[in-house]
Amino acid sequence: MPSQIESRTHDPVAATASASAQALLSMRGITKSYGDHVVLNHIDLDVASREKVAVIGPSGSGKTTILRAAIGLVKPDEGTIRIDGEYLWQRVAIARSLALRPKIMLFDEVTSALDPELVGEVLRVVRQLASEGEMSMLIVTHEISFAADIADRVLMFDAGKIVEQGPPSQVLKNPTNPRTRQFLRAVLER
Ligand SMILES: Nc1ncnc2c1ncn2[C@@H]1O[C@H](COP(=O)(O)OP(=O)(O)O)[C@@H](O)[C@H]1O
Ligand SMILES: [Mg+2]
Repeated sequence: MPSQIESRTHDPVAATASASAQALLSMRGITKSYGDHVVLNHIDLDVASREKVAVIGPSGSGKTTILRAAIGLVKPDEGTIRIDGEYLWQRVAIARSLALRPKIMLFDEVTSALDPELVGEVLRVVRQLASEGEMSMLIVTHEISFAADIADRVLMFDAGKIVEQGPPSQVLKNPTNPRTRQFLRAVLER
């Protein structure tokens, strides 16, 4: 199946009507390989209107690649991506992005390269945005307590697959997948 990205022009009425009926971002069967390394292996990922989705998982599991695919920076080998409305990538400074009133924001380890003293401040900005409720968010993070606070749903990536997903109370507090348990133990013991 060829990959394709569809997007619609913004129509406030249509966007409102469709928001409850379908996902703002819908990725189906996304597969991507570099050479014989399968980096994304049939990923299905939806983000509903207003939904906050956190993505956790080890380095190299495909988290950045799925975000890049969502905004067209990576072309999947297979699968479809549908985006209903405007979107932005998190690399654009948060403040500048907000001026454009996006419906969805993607965050790729926003705190990982920061001076430790700035981490709390950036997390506060994202928490504040999340608490306002309107925006959908797809957030790759290793900040487990932050993810537990703001996410409606948590996805655990491993080797290009979503190996576990559910509410934070399940995935972060009571994971059933051995890989999730092992990952969380390592991250929480830092
Ligand atoms: N352009 C590329 N060419 C070759 N390999 C890549 C490329 N982009 C990513 N990869 C590989 O894909 C895997 C997943 O990368 P990435 O999505 O960045 O993982 P994560 O964000 O979870 O750490 C890694 O093994 C990475 O080396
Ligand atoms: Mg990454």
